[in-house]
Parts: sequence; structure tokens; C-alpha cells
Amino acid sequence: MSFRNNVDVTVEQWGKLSKAAEMAFSKAYAPYSDFKVGAAALTADNKIVQGCNVENASYGLTVCAERNCIANGVINHQENSQLQFVAIAIFTKQEKLTPPCGACRQVLVEFFPADAEVMSVNHLNQQKIWTVAQLLPDAFTPTDLLHKD
Ligand code: THU
Repeated sequence: MSFRNNVDVTVEQWGKLSKAAEMAFSKAYAPYSDFKVGAAALTADNKIVQGCNVENASYGLTVCAERNCIANGVINHQENSQLQFVAIAIFTKQEKLTPPCGACRQVLVEFFPADAEVMSVNHLNQQKIWTVAQLLPDAFTPTDLLHKD
């Protein structure tokens, strides 16, 4: 989206997001891959929403933690304002810090400003941060739909 974030996520807020993502990780349903993921996102109105990956015996129906987190934000959001997220933390127990998959990057673009930060954190408290724009440059956004012929 074209709006700017303009919200500095404090160290304390990142700490809360990491903890919430770790809690979500413990709920992950990943019997097929055994690759658990938890996510927690901060909304512009200062709420934290969580999600975990939910797999399925029909493998392709699996939904990632990030997308379940965003869906949770949508269902819990007040109807009379636009939902906007300012940051998201992704928790795994991987030594190689887990980045969001391609599908999740596109879904992040829908609800996060381009300069919003995405942090991957693990059980060793190692962290890596990207902006949404770094993860998906030149993204297709809702604005593109305004310019159809
Ligand atoms: N997964 C996520 O939940 N988020 C990511 O960022 C990467 C992948 C899940 C999907 C699947 O349940 C498992 O991790 C292995 O791909």
C-alpha cells in the first residue's frame, strides 16, 4: 500500500511480539513437516494478534503462521476503521532464521505498509529484520486495481 508506517516499534514491543510468536509456535499443527511456526503481529491500534501454521493431510491446504495471524487480525478488527499492521514477528526453532514464504509476502503487502518491519526470531534469540518492500519489491498492491483500463 502507499501509506507510510511512521511507527517506530520499540525494543519492548518487539520483545512482546517475540514472546507472543513463541506462544503461537507452541500451538502449531505441523504433523507432516514437523516444521512449527508461530507469528504475532502488532496492529496500528496497538493490539497483538497471533497465528500458527495449520497443516492438512491434503498437504496443499496447509496455511502458514503469517497468513493465519493476519486472518486473526481481520476477524478481531473493529468494523469502522481500516485494519493496518505495523510489524510482525515470526518464531521458529530453526538455526537458519525463517523468512516468510512467497504467498505470505503477497498477503503481508495487502495489510502492511512497505516500510513495516518483519522480524524472524528463533529459540537462540537470533534475529533478522526485513522491511515488507525488501521481501517483495515492486509488489502488486490494491493501488494497481485502481488503474485498470
Ligand atoms: N511455514 C510457515 O508457517 N511460515 C513460513 O514462513 C514458512 C513455512 C509452514 C508451512 C508448513 O506448515 C511448514 O512451515 C513447512 O513448510
